[in-house]
Amino acid sequence: MANPERFLLAGVMGWPVMHSRSPKLHNYWFEKYGLAGTYVPLAVKPEDLRAALRALPALCFSGCNLTIPHKQAAMAIVDEVDEVARKIGAISCVVVRPDGMLAGSNNDCYGFIQNILQEQPGWRAEAGPAVVIGAGGGARAVIYGLAERGAREIRLINRTLGHAQKLAVDLGGPIKVLPWSERHAVLEGAATLVNATSQGMVGNPPLELDLAKLPKSALVADIIYIPRETPLLVAARMRGNPTINGLGMLLHQGRPAWKAWFGIEPEVTPQLRALIAADIPQT
Ligand SMILES: NC(=O)c1ccc[n+]([C@@H]2O[C@H](COP(=O)([O-])OP(=O)(O)OC[C@H]3O[C@@H](n4cnc5c(N)ncnc54)[C@H](OP(=O)(O)O)[C@@H]3O)[C@@H](O)[C@H]2O)c1
Repeated sequence: MANPERFLLAGVMGWPVMHSRSPKLHNYWFEKYGLAGTYVPLAVKPEDLRAALRALPALCFSGCNLTIPHKQAAMAIVDEVDEVARKIGAISCVVVRPDGMLAGSNNDCYGFIQNILQEQPGWRAEAGPAVVIGAGGGARAVIYGLAERGAREIRLINRTLGHAQKLAVDLGGPIKVLPWSERHAVLEGAATLVNATSQGMVGNPPLELDLAKLPKSALVADIIYIPRETPLLVAARMRGNPTINGLGMLLHQGRPAWKAWFGIEPEVTPQLRALIAADIPQT
């Protein structure tokens, strides 16, 4: 539903939500592109998600992002879910259509891949085996992105084997599920390593992983962005591997959202990265 006053509105629904860096990101773009509008944190309890989403058209919101714990629950509420979100099993972005219908999509895989392409332009998904550790929502987006980009072998390792097996069945493609105990050995010959667990995030212990078998040329990516450099990334950098953190994934997933909400595809620049990184601890 178009806002008659052309004051553009979007936000992020989460519970809790005040830790989210998204308002800072999107409000930077409002200013940069000279649009009158704002992006707000929306603290929505799980039991209120349906009412909150359904209120978006009447409030003249263009849409919203979803964060923990709403990404899966929203699937059953919106009117339409695109193929990527359906495969991943989670919605990260809702677009309010002109007729008030709610369309759900998932831009996390786009964010993950675009961040790598911007930071490591020479990287190729098909260059060699990828190892992904983790089988939650983030891992699903990473694996979808790697497979779509042409990865020919994805070695998937997760603490709970059954979660990895379910992911492999749901997504299909070149996924080889291996037990948690194999996580050190499977690094041999890998071209890409991705941590998509919550291990290494502020407040959690580091991911327990011995990098000895990983080729020094392999790209090591962590989707965590708090801290900016997880213990895994520090260890990888110290032995000479190229590394990439999760901040750019967060920034890049906002671009297709803006395109759908406001018709502009905003840029992720070094200035924007520095602004958002400024209040995130380095290690
Ligand atoms: N940069 C971004 O834009 C972005 C986007 C999405 C997520 N993330 C980050 O990615 C991380 C994961 O998020 P998520 O949404 O995927 O979470 P999730 O769905 O809850 O999945 C958590 C994953 O971590 C694993 N895990 C948890 N505790 C563990 C432990 N003690 N040892 C080994 N593995 C453990 C879980 O394994 P089990 O299956 O065994 O429980 C699961 O694979 C978070 O830090 C989140 O902030 C970043």
